Amino acid sequence: MKRSKINTILRESEAFIRSFGYVLPPFADFTPADMKARRSEIGGIVDARLGWDITDYGLGDFEREGLFLFTVRNGNAAALKEGRGMLYAEKIMISRHDQISPMHRHDVKAEDIINRGGGSLCIKLHASAPDGSVDPKAPVSVPTDGIIRRFDAGGVLRLSPGESVTLMPGVWHNFWAEDADVLIGEVSTVNDDLTDNIFAEPIARFSEVEEDEEPYRLLVSDYPDWLAE
Ligand SMILES: [Fe+2]
Repeated sequence: MKRSKINTILRESEAFIRSFGYVLPPFADFTPADMKARRSEIGGIVDARLGWDITDYGLGDFEREGLFLFTVRNGNAAALKEGRGMLYAEKIMISRHDQISPMHRHDVKAEDIINRGGGSLCIKLHASAPDGSVDPKAPVSVPTDGIIRRFDAGGVLRLSPGESVTLMPGVWHNFWAEDADVLIGEVSTVNDDLTDNIFAEPIARFSEVEEDEEPYRLLVSDYPDWLAE
């Protein structure tokens, strides 16, 4: 993706999030220069990969397949192994009208996906086959705000604002917004986007960036290159 396109999406996303009264944490406002200058005190942000995240899954058509995310908090895998400590994570995301986040599952992460406002959030569901691949036939059951709902393979769950679903590891899902853009909350166990997204098709989790202007904000995927110590 071109950096200029990323910068535009960042500004649009800030305004969209603000329109729902959701206030991002202070580090959302850090410029790349701020982050470089304060590198020694922001290890907690860099290491947990908190902050801005925009992806077109390397496919080059953000409007059709893409997602905006901001990681607000995130624990670490070591704590998860120990079974105590910061075992949780939170994101705020935006799925645009008819913009697909492609079919994937997680090995470790259990996640609640919450429609925080806007249009309807559609989530297509599949169970895992014994080898972990998409099961084309088996039904799948998911908790939705405390109530179990059962879907045929490939069934579509529609979440209205306020509604949520719990997706356990192994449940395949893709999602898109219907009618209008949707502000999505994610509350989950520890999040590792470098290792814990298994896609049905061979695609990338992060985009290659083509630098055509200065970054307005750094993306989490910029941290290794821009904030190397
Ligand atoms: Fe997911």
